[in-house]
Amino acid sequence: MKIVMGSDHTGFHMKKELAAFITNLGHEVEDVGTYNEEKAEYPTYGQAAAKKVADNKADRAILICGTGFGISLAANSVRGVRCVNCTEPYTALLSRLHNNANALAIGARVIGIELAKMIVETWLNAEFEGGRHATRVDMITAMKL
Ligand code: RB5
Repeated sequence: MKIVMGSDHTGFHMKKELAAFITNLGHEVEDVGTYNEEKAEYPTYGQAAAKKVADNKADRAILICGTGFGISLAANSVRGVRCVNCTEPYTALLSRLHNNANALAIGARVIGIELAKMIVETWLNAEFEGGRHATRVDMITAMKL
């Protein structure tokens, strides 16, 4: 899959480590920034990555900020994007099976890199179950402007 990644300054290092991990899993990674540790605004990168998914230029987005929450809010402002903010693999798995999450946000100040890798791998490998869950996901899509 093509995975677009974005972060603010707090997520810069974790994003680099996760990008290498994701590449090793066999996926293609595009990084829309930020590209260093200077202060950067998470909405910019959350929105830029989410737009790539919405425009079918990437299959999924993985986003990192301090908590994961701010950048998930930015991603979720984009129509067609469903971003889950995860601290453990169970939610990562169910966000794919039931919610067809196409963006994943992680807090670099909340969890360590090994747990982050476990979450990412779980999330990348899980497929949407469709059926009754598709009806609910379609309801959410219809709610967005
Ligand atoms: C930056 O200090 C911090 O607010 C940001 O990384 C993120 O945690 C926001 O949700």
